[in-house]
Amino acid sequence: MTTTPLNEGSAWADWPARLRLISGLILMFYAFTHLLNHAMGIVGLDVMENGRDIFLAFWRSLVLMWLVPLSILVHVFFVCYKFTGKKTFKGMRNSEWIQLAFGVAIPLFLLPHVYVTRIAILTYQVEDSYTFFLATWYPHEIITMLGLILVIWTHGVIGLYLFLAQKPWFGRSRRLFDILSVVIPLLAIWGVVSAGREVNLLKQDPTWMDDLSSASNPLGIDWTTQVLTFSSQVVKYFLISLIVLVLLRSILNWYRKRNRILVSYLQGSKVSIPRGTTLLEASLIANIPHAHVCGGRGRCSTCRVEVIDGLETLPTPSADESNLLKRVRVGRNVRLACQTRPTDQCTIYPLLLPNSSGYDSSQPQDRQGADKEIAILFSDLRGFTSMSEGRLPYDVVFILNQYFQFMGHAIESHGGKVDKFIGDGIMALFGLENGAAEGCRDALKAAREMSFQLDRLNIHLQNEIEKPLRIGIGIHTGQVIVGEMGYKKSTNLTAIGDATNTASRLESACKELDSELVISDEVMQRAQVRFTEFERHTIQLRGKSESMDVHSFKLAKQLPADLEQMIERKI
Ligand code: FES
Repeated sequence: MTTTPLNEGSAWADWPARLRLISGLILMFYAFTHLLNHAMGIVGLDVMENGRDIFLAFWRSLVLMWLVPLSILVHVFFVCYKFTGKKTFKGMRNSEWIQLAFGVAIPLFLLPHVYVTRIAILTYQVEDSYTFFLATWYPHEIITMLGLILVIWTHGVIGLYLFLAQKPWFGRSRRLFDILSVVIPLLAIWGVVSAGREVNLLKQDPTWMDDLSSASNPLGIDWTTQVLTFSSQVVKYFLISLIVLVLLRSILNWYRKRNRILVSYLQGSKVSIPRGTTLLEASLIANIPHAHVCGGRGRCSTCRVEVIDGLETLPTPSADESNLLKRVRVGRNVRLACQTRPTDQCTIYPLLLPNSSGYDSSQPQDRQGADKEIAILFSDLRGFTSMSEGRLPYDVVFILNQYFQFMGHAIESHGGKVDKFIGDGIMALFGLENGAAEGCRDALKAAREMSFQLDRLNIHLQNEIEKPLRIGIGIHTGQVIVGEMGYKKSTNLTAIGDATNTASRLESACKELDSELVISDEVMQRAQVRFTEFERHTIQLRGKSESMDVHSFKLAKQLPADLEQMIERKI
């Protein structure tokens, strides 16, 4: 097997995607301010018009007046570039199909709107105020405007979500993102409807209407006819452009097919692909199951493949690809299938098992796999093996089940999720929904409760066991990969990563520190509490090169009950 160094290419190696993203973000911000202005109609027509003056002063400043049209051109160009370059649409998630469909529909709604609000002003000196348009618009024009809000906002929100979803911190902001995604367009629609009703009342006065028309439309242009004529032209040219785009894509694919490359899989399959196809697209074209959680955006690493043969012929990975591969600490012969376009034949082996059903877009993102900072708790029964010797199997199972019941209750009552029972050990996750800080506090409270529950359990079992049960608990926090892992019915939401191993080793350290609970210093910092009266140690954990600051508690129930108050005072 040959290996070559994983050189870094330019951070802008995938510059079309970056330009598409930047232009999309600018347009999303523009749409957001627009909707904000619409929403002001809830307060009143005057407020809406005053808001418009402020927004226009910003957006029609010399630089920004060109930025929006330029961003539209760049975005549309690179979306077309992506569309014509895409070798297969297989494996696209439902959300991506919706984004594509809404994106395609945008010109149909946007161009008549641009015509009315920009071209009309320049050509016919029409004033594009809310008042004038709400007074002269016909129902179908209102519907077009509401449709515009829907398609632009949905398209943008999906794009933004797919961009943010792989950011480690996004889990904490996800709920806010979901709420704003729905609330902002609803407020905008409410604002337009509310201002429209106000205008309708004013329209009862014929003098008001005459004054408005002569002031806002000095040349007396018939808007309905103008817009309908323009819209029909838009539909015509839109359909022609779409046909040209599809033809262009077919011609490019036909051209590429003349220059094919053979990709072999270690499992025995072979796929002949056109030059320019990624390794992930090769798998999708040939229906070879291949994990691709982020949809081929180079953000999740689940598509990674070991290159068995032909590594030296592959193009150099981009800086982004190199960074992601470094983060997951893989060998130098591993590449991201979604980012690698072979130029010569090669043999690969997909490293992660795909879900049997492929990507399931109905699952929340963290079930598919996401980077998260959470708190992890490990606990273990002390001396249970020797205690179970000589007991009837039924007896052992009975005691263990009692123990799991008491501890499971303590964990779940403090927002934790029991990840798994491992022999007489328990692994639990905290902060999956509410982030690491809250997770650390919950884990501490759960540890305290586990200690009390153990006392209750020992009283409950006093006639069954010779010595009271004892436990060791370790808690650590850090970045882990959270996702559904396993096989068929044995699949569950779990966490993997260095922080998980550290938590497990802290639990083992309970023995040598003669303590019931050992927590890392990071847990204390994340929870924003200080337990100065408890012992602090610097220890060397097994398998770790660096020492670690930890805090030990003889009994976890010694943790203060007023944790919440301590947090507020930051003791
Ligand atoms: S599919 Fe996510 S990095 Fe390739």
